[in-house]
Amino acid sequence: MKKIFQSYHLNDILLNNRFVMAPMTRSRSSEPGCIPNDLMAEYYGQRASAGLIISEATQISLQGMGYARTPGIYTKEQIEGWKKVTQAVHEKGGHIFLQLWHVGRVSSSWVNGLQPLAPSALKATNTNVYLFDGAPNGDAAFIEVEEPKAMTKDEIHQTIQDFAEGAKNAIDAGFDGVEIHGANGYLIDQFLRSNSNIRTDEYGGNTENRIRFLIEVTEAVINAVGKERTGVRLSPFIKFKDMDDPKILDTIMQAVEKLNELGIAYIHLCEADWDDAPRIPYLFRKELRYKFSNTIIATGNKTPSEGEELLEKDLVDMIGFGRKFLTNPDYPERVRQNAALNEISDPHTLFGGGDSRGYTDYPFLT
Ligand SMILES: Cc1cc2nc3c(=O)[nH]c(=O)nc-3n(C[C@H](O)[C@H](O)[C@H](O)COP(=O)(O)O)c2cc1C
Repeated sequence: MKKIFQSYHLNDILLNNRFVMAPMTRSRSSEPGCIPNDLMAEYYGQRASAGLIISEATQISLQGMGYARTPGIYTKEQIEGWKKVTQAVHEKGGHIFLQLWHVGRVSSSWVNGLQPLAPSALKATNTNVYLFDGAPNGDAAFIEVEEPKAMTKDEIHQTIQDFAEGAKNAIDAGFDGVEIHGANGYLIDQFLRSNSNIRTDEYGGNTENRIRFLIEVTEAVINAVGKERTGVRLSPFIKFKDMDDPKILDTIMQAVEKLNELGIAYIHLCEADWDDAPRIPYLFRKELRYKFSNTIIATGNKTPSEGEELLEKDLVDMIGFGRKFLTNPDYPERVRQNAALNEISDPHTLFGGGDSRGYTDYPFLT
């Protein structure tokens, strides 16, 4: 295990190693207001030995919210709350990007009081969001998503503005950069795929049109905070949330060429959500490397040795880990020592909960 422990220059940011803590929604913001709090600062601070942390998905507007108690980045109070998080990470020598999120059709007015917006008025089948019903064990109540309204051009332009504003707010809150969430069946992904986007204007139809929203969001974010502070997450191999578009790989490769022209800092591949990790074809990795000149991050059900192999073969530059960081605040050190790992203590604490249980109480090595 050599490369994964080497420092890495993400443009002008020197990262201590090539471990990335993947973005993970934990639904613990303070309500009302979707405000990051001290407990969240403690959680992220504990994990600062990752070379780079990507924050949990963070909505850019109330409209962009899809689940209970997820944090936002569109009010003054939220920016102040996030300052505690970035300070806790920086004090320990870590770096952190904020993940900018709009869920699109993956929502319900039960969550935020608003009808969801999406490229087209197509409801995602077999897709739920959650609320907390106040039960003492903190269990979530799952509800079906609601039929969305197709976005008008004005709503599209407003949303692009919201992404840019969110990015600016993130930098004001002390983040080292932002990651645009273009993965996992949320708004940007919904524009990319022909099964969720049946628009007939310049945002739908052929591939170039379906890519347009992602590219315009990225351009607006770059204008707001700079290309060297802008990353994009994509999930070419993911099909859940009613997102099975057989042409998605071609679409993503076409998008990658444009993102490369824009000179963004990185592409972060979400290769698995939980355990549904498909094998990523070697040719896809080679093509991506060829078409994209900056940093590539790969996340999804990886062991450190699989990650090391990808680094050694020079197919990627950094490796993301989700659940390993969730349960092991000192994950890189545990890998270095080949030490035992903590497992998920109680699945009920993955999303929600008002105290340290299953959040900040995972032990460090002694
Ligand atoms: C509790 C939990 C919450 C997640 N939330 C997000 C999220 O907010 N944004 C995102 O892009 N991916 C999210 N993911 C996906 C992870 O970033 C990652 O891709 C996935 O866990 C696979 O990596 P792993 O096998 O190392 O855990 C989440 C995963 C978990 C387990």
